[in-house]
Amino acid sequence: MADPRILLVIGGGIAAYKSCELVRLIRKGGGSVACVLTEGGSHFVTAMTLAALSENPVHTTLWDLKNEVEMGHIQLSRAADLVVVCPATADLMAKMAAGIADDLATTLLLATDKPVLAVPAMNVRMWQHPATRRNVATLRASGVTVMEPDEGAMACGEFGPGRLPEPEAVWAEIGAALATHGHSQPLEGQPDFAPERHRPLFGKHVLITAGPTHEPIDPVRYIANRSSGKQGFAIAAAAAEAGARVTLVAGPVHLPTPPGVDRVDVETARQMAAAVEAALPADVAVMVAAVADWRAAEEAGQKLKKDGSGKVPPLHLAENPDILAALAQSPQRPRLLVGFAAETERVIDHATAKRARKGADWIVANDVSGDVMGGHANAVHIITASGTESLPEMPKEDVARALVERIADAFA
Ligand code: CTP
Repeated sequence: MADPRILLVIGGGIAAYKSCELVRLIRKGGGSVACVLTEGGSHFVTAMTLAALSENPVHTTLWDLKNEVEMGHIQLSRAADLVVVCPATADLMAKMAAGIADDLATTLLLATDKPVLAVPAMNVRMWQHPATRRNVATLRASGVTVMEPDEGAMACGEFGPGRLPEPEAVWAEIGAALATHGHSQPLEGQPDFAPERHRPLFGKHVLITAGPTHEPIDPVRYIANRSSGKQGFAIAAAAAEAGARVTLVAGPVHLPTPPGVDRVDVETARQMAAAVEAALPADVAVMVAAVADWRAAEEAGQKLKKDGSGKVPPLHLAENPDILAALAQSPQRPRLLVGFAAETERVIDHATAKRARKGADWIVANDVSGDVMGGHANAVHIITASGTESLPEMPKEDVARALVERIADAFA
């Protein structure tokens, strides 16, 4: 299968404009696209735009005699290597889950014998509604790949999960879906996905913590740290690319969820500990989060107020659970337990001691005295039972791939 053929179904949501960029990426990557525009989708992008970008006729209705004579709708549903629904609105996914076929798009989706990838985009409440949760679960159970939407500010003014993932992320997911279904050639602009079963971490569950934690003092104040979550998110992305099932327990950060990663958002160390426990069992755990060591011993129910006397209120701290150390002692301890060590001096000495103290198999040590926290690059030392390997400074994505490679080797 040299040049993948994509049937792109465009649902009716504001994110439909991003499907134009997706068409461009597919073409640039060597694929061909036939677009199916729903009635709703046509209010956001025009058939003319899609026809010009795809250099193919755009299909809009079941009842088009000319199209039906040239290529029947059943034939159209089978002519692609992959069907991509982008954006997949709540309504479109509900119809797909129920098997409703009341227009061209839904009829094709019911008739196709090809793999289907749905890329949701909708308001956060619609995404979190029990009906949508049920529909997504039904679709996944019936073999449809449903991407996780991004989190962030939405066109409707609200904030949360529901944004359409960036076209580059959708394009990467298309590559993964094609590889899974036998397309062996890497496509331009995509990670080099090997077929699923050949990927080195296929069948493994990798659990990752990332980001800071926020420990509330009162309803408006909290204790935090400078962790950006970038290194942990990059490791989650690399593990997913390597074929693992990935659970990413993330503290409060504004980063998009990497394709194929299950994300659990938490705020405090204690919530992170509970989410980690709920995600077990795992084959590998990589604890990248900069968990706050201490929380306010008592969280004030109301905002702390100045009383005019100049007296400073005392801030009493209590120690947080050590998630890594607890996991090392757990009856469900993952086979490979990797901790991180953020140090500002005597990096390797402190990290080596930390490895023993916490009961981790490996410690990835980094010097955070510069701008590592929040920055894009990192220089790490991987400390194992058999010694220390120091890697040169490199982008966090490369650190992630290097670490995932070593994890895969450990399981080989
Ligand atoms: N960690 C954890 N739970 C905590 C604190 C840390 O799981 N409550 C994990 C981190 O995710 C990391 C490792 O332990 O993998 C080391 O974190 P670090 O902050 O470097 O160590 P500390 O436990 O804070 O030790 P120290 O105060 O000696 O630096």
